[in-house]
Amino acid sequence: MADEATFEKPVTVALTGASGAQYGLRLIDCLVAARHQVLVLISKAAQMVIATETDVSLPSNPERLSEALKERSGAAPGQIRCFGREDWMAPVASGSGAPSAMVICPCSTGTLSAVATGASNNLIERAADVALKERRQLILVPRETPFSAIHLEHMLTLTRMGAVILPAAPGFYHRPQTLDDMIDFIVARILNQLGIAHTLMPRWGEAT
Ligand SMILES: Cc1cc2nc3c(=O)[nH]c(=O)nc-3n(C[C@H](O)[C@H](O)[C@H](O)COP(=O)(O)O)c2cc1C
Repeated sequence: MADEATFEKPVTVALTGASGAQYGLRLIDCLVAARHQVLVLISKAAQMVIATETDVSLPSNPERLSEALKERSGAAPGQIRCFGREDWMAPVASGSGAPSAMVICPCSTGTLSAVATGASNNLIERAADVALKERRQLILVPRETPFSAIHLEHMLTLTRMGAVILPAAPGFYHRPQTLDDMIDFIVARILNQLGIAHTLMPRWGEAT
């Protein structure tokens, strides 16, 4: 079993209250399998979406949440660390402690807006603000349809600041047979962005 010193680089994963909780949960599992340490932030609305869309039951207390996610994904002790929405002492709240990459998956239009305007009213928004100010990797996976001009303008603003907007819009050319295939399409794209090797699906031009 891995100890903290042997983990690959940490990645912050924030789940917010857009539909598509499965993408975020699968991403955490894949990062754990790839031996990365994962710093997890889950909004109140995301808790509601998880309860609505999945059979996964997650406590809101950060320590119990860490334990529940560890059990789910088979993580090593210390591999998953969860933080509360106002835990301003968490490493992600400062440029000196935050990982080099953060993914907001799924990303609600509310959080998208807060990140684009620098609101920093909760730890997810603050961590994204830190990623932007430190010029670190920030990937947002919005899910809404249709998009309003407000959503589109915020996405353009964030793209111009160096963030990557990776919409939860799975393709069909890999002939998905199951829901898991469609979830993996998006998670594979996120892992590609992070530069993390995976076998979820072949890259374009690779033999299937
Ligand atoms: C079941 C459910 C599905 C939702 N789906 C979406 C969605 O797809 N996209 C979105 O932007 N908001 C969606 N919302 C609304 C957000 O959860 C809401 O705007 C919330 O304030 C977002 O807060 P957060 O960004 O702090 O997580 C959904 C809410 C629920 C309960």
